[in-house]
Amino acid sequence: MATSISYLASRAALVFVVAILEYYLISLNHLVISANSAPNNNYCRPIEANDTDLIQFALNLEFLEAEFFLHGALGEGLDAISPNLALGGPPPIGGHKANLNPLVAPIIQEFGYQEVGHIRAIFTTIGGFPRPLLNLSRENFAALFDQAAGFPLTPPFDPYANSVNYLLASYAIPYVGLVGYVGTIPDLTEPTNCRLVASLLGVEAGQDAVIRALLYKMAHWKVFPYRLTVADFTNLISGLRNKLGGCGIKDEGIIVPEALGAENRTCSNVLSADLDSLSYARAQPEILRIVYATGDESVPGGFYPRGANGNIARRFLNGYYDIEMNYISILITFINTCLVASLLGVEAGAGQDAVIRALLYERGNQTVLPYRLTVAEFTNRISALRNKLGKSGNKDEGIRVPITLGAENKTTSNVLSADVNSLSYARTPPEILRIVYGTGNESLHGGFYPQGANGKIARTCVTVVGGGRGG
Ligand SMILES: *[C@@H]1O[C@H](CO)[C@@H](O)[C@H](O)[C@H]1NC(C)=O
Ligand SMILES: *[C@@H]1O[C@H](CO)[C@@H](O)[C@H](O)[C@H]1NC(C)=O
Ligand SMILES: *[C@@H]1O[C@H](CO)[C@@H](O)[C@H](O)[C@H]1NC(C)=O
Ligand SMILES: *[C@@H]1O[C@H](CO)[C@@H](O)[C@H](O)[C@H]1NC(C)=O
Ligand SMILES: *[C@@H]1O[C@H](CO)[C@@H](O)[C@H](O)[C@H]1NC(C)=O
Ligand SMILES: *[C@@H]1O[C@H](CO)[C@@H](O)[C@H](O)[C@H]1NC(C)=O
Repeated sequence: MATSISYLASRAALVFVVAILEYYLISLNHLVISANSAPNNNYCRPIEANDTDLIQFALNLEFLEAEFFLHGALGEGLDAISPNLALGGPPPIGGHKANLNPLVAPIIQEFGYQEVGHIRAIFTTIGGFPRPLLNLSRENFAALFDQAAGFPLTPPFDPYANSVNYLLASYAIPYVGLVGYVGTIPDLTEPTNCRLVASLLGVEAGQDAVIRALLYKMAHWKVFPYRLTVADFTNLISGLRNKLGGCGIKDEGIIVPEALGAENRTCSNVLSADLDSLSYARAQPEILRIVYATGDESVPGGFYPRGANGNIARRFLNGYYDIEMNYISILITFINTCLVASLLGVEAGAGQDAVIRALLYERGNQTVLPYRLTVAEFTNRISALRNKLGKSGNKDEGIRVPITLGAENKTTSNVLSADVNSLSYARTPPEILRIVYGTGNESLHGGFYPQGANGKIARTCVTVVGGGRGG
């Protein structure tokens, strides 16, 4: 079991690299096809901007998530918890403590503190801007859900009324941040920035996956007092986002027609992904069209009554469209930097891991028969083993941790494993080999790979000792 989770983690890293390559090829095709066509206002491509602007764009979404999760779990937001991070931006409108059950409450609290860490990480790495005005009122969510349903729900949808409603409202939020990060990575030029965004992405992907996994378990429940089920609502919200985004299907509910499921074979759709089960990517204008709920990146509304902050969002608000993009130079730089950063072991695409963690978290206090250990204790021991084999400090945590390892040193529940700034831990290939071989030595194969892993990096480690014997 120890290594099966490591296996998933390393697999996630591989899937991530493939996702980036795929994205790169698609962008290149797009370039070839559209090189001579007229600019289109409703475009779906990433816009040209420097790393600072690209990463700061994400701050808008991090502020939204931080305020929504902190208010939902604690009844107060950044102004109470880390006021300096708001940089004097106006307090959000209408945030409330939600009526959450004992399973969901600590998870949302953890997510809220993780967002605080993300905002701080962006501030300290590249600098930030003031929190934009956010509309977290019941009325705003009700309007969004009416828009999704296509008719007015009676009574109006209340995101703070109970855990199911709150999770549905949350379903509407982190996913946009997630696809935004997936869309941003290929355009960054500095390796350190790639690493930052990939680590942010890892946790955002995890949050989205946990929320989806919790909703999936109740997929067929009716959302009281409406006639729609949880699955119906997720499909409606995803449908609305696709419509507002205006760039095709990039978003799917938790139960889908088989044609949209993994390999066209599943109707359950805990993680939303494309034909090759890779994460969808959205460009910045698409995200603005969605979070403004107006379908227009230059008309603010929805969660951002006065628009989002930062150079990218402001460009659109000022009616300035920058269509000219030098894709070739972006792509060439990207090959040299981001791809290398990914191969060096940036961990992301952590959705599968997060779903497994969420399922284990829920049973954290159960004893694993016939042993005397609980599920939580097992996860801690497995993590400790991986840290020991990896030989590079604490990069792995169980589902219940001492408070000093929890998000912002404030939580002991630990659905998602992350560092002091709530960024995903990164492991290098040798670390991963040390773990999956179960030997603590990247040159000494064994464990799940009796003859060693394949590919250049793994073989290099093995041939260091002359091609070697099995472990
Ligand atoms: C990034 O671009 C913005 C304009 O959008 C500019 O103000 C800023 O100085 C640039 N930052 C860097 C680090 O080049
Ligand atoms: C917040 O959203 C609600 C519903 O759309 C709207 O009535 C209200 O005016 C908004 N608040 C602000 C300050 O924009
Ligand atoms: C799934 O179906 C779509 C068409 O609906 C097709 O393009 C795609 O290749 C299929 N995927 C697999 C893995 O069979
Ligand atoms: C597990 O036990 C801990 C400590 O007794 C408690 O705080 C937590 O709420 C329990 N978790 C669940 C899911 O029951
Ligand atoms: C949490 O505690 C660690 C030391 O245990 C410290 O380095 C870190 O800055 C603390 N984080 C916060 C957000 O206070
Ligand atoms: C790793 O294994 C190789 C091959 O057995 C051995 O030569 C090397 O000394 C080991 N390294 C460590 C750090 O134990």
